[in-house]
Amino acid sequence: MGEGRFAGKVALLTGAASGIGRATAVRLSAEGARIFAHDISAAGLASLRDEITAAGGDVTVRDGDISDRDECQATVADCVAVFGRLDVLGNIAGIARAEHFGDVPEDAYRRMMGVNVDGPFFMAQAAIPHLIETGGNLVNIASNAGLMGCAYTVVYTMTKGAIVQMTRSLAMEYVKTPIRVNAIAPGGIATSLTTNFEIPSDIDFDLMAPYTGFRDMGTAEDIAALFAFVASDEAASVHGAILSSDRGLTAG
Ligand SMILES: NC(=O)c1ccc[n+]([C@@H]2O[C@H](COP(=O)([O-])OP(=O)(O)OC[C@H]3O[C@@H](n4cnc5c(N)ncnc54)[C@H](O)[C@@H]3O)[C@@H](O)[C@H]2O)c1
Repeated sequence: MGEGRFAGKVALLTGAASGIGRATAVRLSAEGARIFAHDISAAGLASLRDEITAAGGDVTVRDGDISDRDECQATVADCVAVFGRLDVLGNIAGIARAEHFGDVPEDAYRRMMGVNVDGPFFMAQAAIPHLIETGGNLVNIASNAGLMGCAYTVVYTMTKGAIVQMTRSLAMEYVKTPIRVNAIAPGGIATSLTTNFEIPSDIDFDLMAPYTGFRDMGTAEDIAALFAFVASDEAASVHGAILSSDRGLTAG
């Protein structure tokens, strides 16, 4: 590989073993990027490595838990040691669950904050000095849930709202540097996250209507295509944006 919008560039992607992260890794590799793929699932990363390698791409994988600040710092350092540079950070890993607000266990609350907020925060903190060196960019995966109230997923919406604000505030703080910081806010996408999503049986389903919407779910490839545009030089003017890809969920 070596041709395409990401020729000569290095992308570090979290959550790369599955769903949106995996599709993004495959897409950026096909467009010439060297991929540093991170996930908590070693098995998923091994299968991604096989897929990218078979297609002629260049990928290094590292398994770990992004809720751990040391792991975030070590991951960025590992990527730069392996590839010598960092052009794109994709904060994609995330978890979701639904329950009545009053039933959220403390450990589930702290885990979701750790994975969905601490991870992207400490990954960004470690990566930005390297992105400044290359004039690179950061793409966070937020959600329609970061832009609207969603019953029964209060903690998840809080974490994605934090990602929206992290994106905007980093865009402001680094506006005089060469880097770009953006977020993509997908609506429902068919991945293991939605397939495994368990909803308590005794909820009021009317309250879910505003965030289930009127159209079918999107695909991980849809989001990977948008990611590839935002992370590419074609999006040179896109900075501090929250780009929805939600089939109208947040339009009304
Ligand atoms: N699927 C949707 O409907 C949807 C909608 C909006 C936003 N999102 C967001 O998109 C992102 C990707 O989700 P997806 O739908 O592809 O789900 P997914 O479950 O297919 O992929 C998420 C990946 O993150 C990894 N991961 C989870 N915890 C981790 C940790 N502590 N450390 C490292 N890796 C970890 C998982 O192993 C998995 O490979 C998430 O941030 C999610 O919140 C998804």
